[in-house]
Amino acid sequence: MTGEAEIRAVLERITDPATGQALAAVGRIASVTVAGGAARVVLEIPPDRGPALVPLARRAEAEIARLPGIGRAAVILTAETAPRGDPPPALGPRPAERPAPRPVPGVERILAVGSGKGGVGKSTVAANLAVALAAEGRRAGLLDADVYGPSQHRMMGLTDRRPTSPDGQMIDPLRAHGVQLMSMGLLVPETQATVWRGPMLMKALQQLLFTVLWDRLDVLVVDLPPGTGDVPLTLAQRARVTGAVVVSTPQDIALIDARKAIDMFRRLEVPLAGIVENMSTFCCPACGHETPLFGHGGAEAEARRLGVPFLGAIPLELGTRLAGDAGTPVVAAEPDGPQAARFRAIARALVSAGMG
Ligand SMILES: Nc1ncnc2c1ncn2[C@@H]1O[C@H](COP(=O)(O)OP(=O)(O)OP(=O)(O)O)[C@@H](O)[C@H]1O
Ligand SMILES: [Mg+2]
Repeated sequence: MTGEAEIRAVLERITDPATGQALAAVGRIASVTVAGGAARVVLEIPPDRGPALVPLARRAEAEIARLPGIGRAAVILTAETAPRGDPPPALGPRPAERPAPRPVPGVERILAVGSGKGGVGKSTVAANLAVALAAEGRRAGLLDADVYGPSQHRMMGLTDRRPTSPDGQMIDPLRAHGVQLMSMGLLVPETQATVWRGPMLMKALQQLLFTVLWDRLDVLVVDLPPGTGDVPLTLAQRARVTGAVVVSTPQDIALIDARKAIDMFRRLEVPLAGIVENMSTFCCPACGHETPLFGHGGAEAEARRLGVPFLGAIPLELGTRLAGDAGTPVVAAEPDGPQAARFRAIARALVSAGMG
């Protein structure tokens, strides 16, 4: 099966004919994730190399997509991250010119869903939480802020839809499964390789935040990209975020990253709504038996240690992935099933905490 090493090997193999330098050596490989037959690489590159490297990124995508078990590949070139070693910008005093976080029009609460590690199921949890909050009678919205690899338009079944703008300025959110939705994936074609520069990233995110005509939302669930990078930073700097949900799988390695995410939200002064343990046990599709494939209970113990609420455990279950891939989150596809009950319990806990 193809893993990170095989993907990195492709990036080592593809060289820039102009310089003889391998793609992997031009910048820093910020992340390599493989999930459900889709590979995603984020490569941090020097800003001035962007246009020259796009064809190489395309070639890498084609080669990675041909690896066994991989169907789709995206190589995202990013030039937006501050040079390594620079202090994270939000942690110093706020510069006078930077505006304070402000409320998003039409939105009562913002609930950010983040993780330290990629592929742990943030988008799945975010989509199902939004649908579950709607099922609990809340006016819920979902914003896909994963500018590098948006997935909510697919998970919510809106791949072919484009948002409309009644006045040429503000954008109407789309609606699916009782939830209002906006995603970078609705604005940028899925296959378009984009070189995100800092200002572009900020602008794209701000457009998503402040130019959507959200219709009186009780809560806007924001699906963040993995990690502790610029997107959560920008979100917390620009908008008043009510709370953050950190998603983790039970493995130690994921929990170490979850701790980093928790630390980031604390430093950004975003209250922690709690931790969700995803892929907590494996539900056998044939007999329903639950096996703790990756161990189980790690996130709950970690939550206790860190003094953060534990919101619940979501088993790894085939129907959940199939429902997500088919564009109907499992809470909507099987509203009376056990996964829906778990997500709805988390939604109720968030509502009672004033965060949902
Ligand atoms: N509880 C679950 N049961 C079964 N499959 C799941 C579950 N949670 C997530 N998945 C599947 O795992 C894959 C990764 O999930 P998802 O895209 O939600 O993760 P992510 O953390 O948002 O990833 P990224 O870091 O790339 O944004 C998807 O194919 C999804 O359907
Ligand atoms: Mg995601």
